[in-house]
Amino acid sequence: MERKWWHGKVAYQIYPKSFCDANGDGIGDLRGIIGKLDYLKELGVDIIWLSPIYPSPMADQGYDIADYYNIDPRFGTMADFDELLAETKKRDMYLVMDLVVNHCSDEHEWFQKACADPDGKYGKYFYIQDHKEGDPLPCNWRSYFGGPCWDKLPGRDDKIYLHVFHKKQPDLNWENPELRQEVYQMVNWWLDKGVAGFRIDAIINIKKCLPFRDYPADRDDGLSNIGNMLEEATGIMDFLQEMADHTFIPHNAFSIGELFNEKEEELPLFIGDGGCFSSIFDFAPTVVSRGPKGWYAEPDVTPRQYRDACFSTQRKAEGVGYVANIIENHDEPRGVSHFLPPEGRCEAGKKMLGGLSFLLKGLPFLFQGQELGMENTVFHDISEIDDCNTLDEYQVALAAGLTPEQALQSVNRLSRDNARTPVQWDASPNAGFTTGTPWLAVNPNYTWLNLAEQRGRPDSIYEFYRLLITLRKDPAYAETLVYGKTEPYLTERDNLMAYFRRGDKTILVAGNFQAGPQDLPLPGEIKTLLLNNLNELDLDGSAVRLSGWQLIALELA
Ligand code: GLC
Ligand code: CA
Repeated sequence: MERKWWHGKVAYQIYPKSFCDANGDGIGDLRGIIGKLDYLKELGVDIIWLSPIYPSPMADQGYDIADYYNIDPRFGTMADFDELLAETKKRDMYLVMDLVVNHCSDEHEWFQKACADPDGKYGKYFYIQDHKEGDPLPCNWRSYFGGPCWDKLPGRDDKIYLHVFHKKQPDLNWENPELRQEVYQMVNWWLDKGVAGFRIDAIINIKKCLPFRDYPADRDDGLSNIGNMLEEATGIMDFLQEMADHTFIPHNAFSIGELFNEKEEELPLFIGDGGCFSSIFDFAPTVVSRGPKGWYAEPDVTPRQYRDACFSTQRKAEGVGYVANIIENHDEPRGVSHFLPPEGRCEAGKKMLGGLSFLLKGLPFLFQGQELGMENTVFHDISEIDDCNTLDEYQVALAAGLTPEQALQSVNRLSRDNARTPVQWDASPNAGFTTGTPWLAVNPNYTWLNLAEQRGRPDSIYEFYRLLITLRKDPAYAETLVYGKTEPYLTERDNLMAYFRRGDKTILVAGNFQAGPQDLPLPGEIKTLLLNNLNELDLDGSAVRLSGWQLIALELA
């Protein structure tokens, strides 16, 4: 595997709407981010990915883009953006934008023109079909946010258009070379401006299996999960390689793809040397308990499932390419609430989970607030939910016969809004996020869970993340922690996640995924204790007695 400038870095996702509000309108903004760059530098972050900041009607919180070349006034101006970019560079940091090109907004000029003239140039930028009231739809795919993925073309009774996400997110037709050129031109415009690269949204959806046809229905609604179609679609690599050749590769840019359920044999094409992306997120732990029915039927993730999912990706990626490891993002519940059993959601447990994920081979990608151990919030009523995906899953749960209370409970566990509550900077009103009214309520635990309380407290979660970052960048250990192979250890045990990182040194990482103690046999002498999330270490000959939720990293002789 060829070595790249970003392998030894640490990345951090900002969800701008909820990061920091500088002007008191309740919405996070670019000036808020600029004001926190020194904080991110102090934490040790190198690469910052910004979720979309382009003009958007916000049907899907900015993932519905109405203009790819501008900044939404809610977030600031292009001058603010240029300043942000310059300020990151001053600090030797890299800015990564979000590339949302499976679809745009229905308020994008292209779609407006397509509606006005469906047979003209812009009609061909989308999937538009003739359709009369009462006719069957071209296919029975269920949109990711619920309901059929076809809707009436605005202003027309005889045509429909495809949207695999929200109806305000019409799919762009990648089969059209003219559209592809528009996309590449736009990507290059931002790269020429000096952004370091892109996170590439929902990209697996750009290749449809054509002609449209039905797939076996998997719910009572008669519709079929889009995954069933994607399984069959072939040829996406031609699009992705073409995009890379026209954009990322000539700019030596960093590109990270959002894809789920990629096939093992395709991995070299995605992230191998000369592949179409620099990296992809490892979503194996994220999707491990997902099923076709919806959130209400999704069981909790067990420690064994979490571990085995991480290890399976480590195995697949070894020698092929470099994945990015996450415990959460803006589409998921908070990692500590999702992957830790309730009794493990203490400071020790949160550090353990963070450390286990962070020390795997791959690019560690933190999500805002993760470094504080931010947790899921509690939604008391469905009216408190903003996210369109959650609103749909609530309806799915009701349709399956759950009571409103049960349906609310089920969406509380998995709602994307859990990750979207404002960052908890301090204990002042609204957690110091805004002087106004936040667009989404602050998690009430901000009074005790916030940065001001943790910064400088040596045993805090925040300081622990700083230690993790310092360790990974320590020249003495970087070779092993960045490039060393991951070798699972004691996988027959249930509540243990342990692995070696083998490079020029051997490092053993182990986390006790339970409240009770557990003995960890040591296959060699301890040379250095690199990390411990508790104050004591119970060493007994050739074994360590790990306390509940203890995490250690040891250099072995
Ligand atoms: C990606 C984004 C998600 C969005 C979807 C549609 O999965 O991360 O937030 O809803 O794509 O753009
Ligand atoms: Ca604002």
